[in-house]
Amino acid sequence: MSSSAGRGVQRIGILTGGGDAPGLNAVIRAVVKSAANCHCETIGLLDGFDGLTEPDQWRPLTPKDVTGILRIGGTILGTANRGNPFARPVETSDGPRPYSDRCLEMFRKLQLDALVVIGGDGTLAIAHEFFTRGMPVVGVPKTIDNDIVETTNTFGFDTAVGFATEAVDRLHTTAEAHHRIMVVEVMGRYAGWIALYAGVAGGADVILIPEIPFDLQKIADHIKRRESLGARFSIVVVAEGAWPVGGTTSVVRPAEGEYVEKLGGMGAIVTAELERLTGKETRNVVLGHLQRGGSPTSFDRLLATRFGAHAMELVLQRKFGTMVAFHPPNIVDVPLERVVGRIRTVPLDFDVLRAARSMNVSLGE
Ligand code: F6P
Repeated sequence: MSSSAGRGVQRIGILTGGGDAPGLNAVIRAVVKSAANCHCETIGLLDGFDGLTEPDQWRPLTPKDVTGILRIGGTILGTANRGNPFARPVETSDGPRPYSDRCLEMFRKLQLDALVVIGGDGTLAIAHEFFTRGMPVVGVPKTIDNDIVETTNTFGFDTAVGFATEAVDRLHTTAEAHHRIMVVEVMGRYAGWIALYAGVAGGADVILIPEIPFDLQKIADHIKRRESLGARFSIVVVAEGAWPVGGTTSVVRPAEGEYVEKLGGMGAIVTAELERLTGKETRNVVLGHLQRGGSPTSFDRLLATRFGAHAMELVLQRKFGTMVAFHPPNIVDVPLERVVGRIRTVPLDFDVLRAARSMNVSLGE
């Protein structure tokens, strides 16, 4: 990849990959504005790395194009959520091509000096793969799941937790009025961050996370004990990746080809079992993609802006193969290779778990 050798950074690409998360637009805005301040042009690639498969899958981005997007969810560039694009050749207007060859060719044709890749673990792994094949990339970690290693926070998480907490608040109304058990299933894949944070912040009575396999009988006993003490309702927060002792996670669609496994349905299973074991009327609510929508919180806007500005600094320093990260109170950078193939789950000695137990919240153990 020698198109940029010997010249300064004049033209960079930017793309968003994987599931959308509130704050993506804030990163795009920060990169575009700070690039423009250094007289560097930004090219927005459309729909993730697919933006590098056709000559017309991009648009120029000027500060004017990113005005007003700070507070908007989603991504103005579009995104694609596929597992491993290297697994298959890509159909192009020039016929089928090996995916990586095509992307590297388009990167050269567009005369890009660097690529800022905003994505979760899957997208960052693809970015790292391209880096090993010579593409100068800088990664920016995003996901509502907060499960990327080497950074204490990803943007999108705070917004998702805020929404899920409000949902738990609202579910208290019906739970209390009807003396019911209300079960709420939240996202998070194989990590329990959203469930734990929203559960504790919303005052849930039971919180089930993938890191701690649960025992339904123990949860039913906990709810009956609450009942005997006069609490006639219970709120149960279930992470989509939670699973019972001796059982498995609930899968909606198994991994197939380039698509990753899709989780879901554990809330409904827990609901049916708790109704049977306690004899109490029980209802299930699945928050689903509502957690990914809406305006980012101020925390997420600030983190995304800091990430974007730092990513541009790394580009100017030609510090490629890196990912920006939050090590409070600082934004730092870490090698992308340390991120690939790992996920960050809730540590079993985490103080928030201890706090939940000390508040008499059941973790299903
Ligand atoms: O990674 C973000 C996330 O929302 C997960 O919490 C969830 O399991 C998954 O994406 C859902 O993916 P999709 O949008 O493809 O259904």
